[in-house]
Amino acid sequence: MLNIVLIGSGNVAKFLFDVFSVHPKIRLVQVVGRNKEALNYFKEKTAVGSDYSKLKKADIYILAVKDDAIQTVSKKINVHNSLLVHTSGSIAMNALSGTTRLGVFYPLQTFSGVPPENSDTIPFCIEAENEEDYVHLENLAKCISSSVYRISSEKRRQLHLAAVFANNFTNHMYFMASEICTEQKVPFDLLKPLMHETYQKIMNQSPFDAQTGPARRNDTRTLQEHLLLLKEANQKKVYTTLSESIQKTYGKKL
Ligand SMILES: NC(=O)c1ccc[n+]([C@@H]2O[C@H](COP(=O)([O-])OP(=O)(O)OC[C@H]3O[C@@H](n4cnc5c(N)ncnc54)[C@H](OP(=O)(O)O)[C@@H]3O)[C@@H](O)[C@H]2O)c1
Repeated sequence: MLNIVLIGSGNVAKFLFDVFSVHPKIRLVQVVGRNKEALNYFKEKTAVGSDYSKLKKADIYILAVKDDAIQTVSKKINVHNSLLVHTSGSIAMNALSGTTRLGVFYPLQTFSGVPPENSDTIPFCIEAENEEDYVHLENLAKCISSSVYRISSEKRRQLHLAAVFANNFTNHMYFMASEICTEQKVPFDLLKPLMHETYQKIMNQSPFDAQTGPARRNDTRTLQEHLLLLKEANQKKVYTTLSESIQKTYGKKL
């Protein structure tokens, strides 16, 4: 049985809580966070608390707070010389302190309220200061996922950077598309089959080969017309930067 304390009460803490609490080999001992209202989510099934100096005894302490708070919160807590990990894609393992047994337990997925249907395919990028602790983390990750990788802090940082392009920027493009639809009073839903096809294609084709559109074809008149249609300076800037990047990728002169 692996005894776990979760520190933090946001999206990742909720996801881990949901998958851990139904696993027979994992016991969630406590969830600790500064946000008393958010702790309501957990209190039916485990002990909750807001005092970092009153952590219950556990095998692994998982710090799922925002990146900027990892260092300061880890200094405040006492983990009884147990294993302490964070869940960030971009923070180095040695940003943690308070114990010599440090690690990282990074789920390479996006969490924002709607829980993922299945944790089994979520890649867990793990790292630990010593081999014995690595095995503990690997065992924990394998309870909830079939996709477990040993990734160093440096590689994880680069992977997280790639994930920002693949997910955060793509989502922002959907947002910008939705703004145009709202302004023109056309349903955003009309774009959903296109978004679905884009996703499907990328599962079987390289992103380089999958690219289409006026910038890829170097349809300069369409590119200029689009720029005229856009009203806001920020929209024009994003459109120009991305179009130039596509043209450069395919060797076209601007
Ligand atoms: N969301 C994702 O898609 C995702 C995916 C993989 C990894 N991660 C990583 O997982 C970690 C948590 O992310 P999240 O999405 O769960 O964030 P989140 O939903 O914004 O929750 C952040 C948590 O950190 C707490 N917190 C913030 N500042 C704090 C401080 N100064 N002292 C103490 N607690 C503080 C928040 O408490 P309050 O509610 O009181 O602010 C909240 O409990 C981050 O390292 C993130 O990089 C996130």
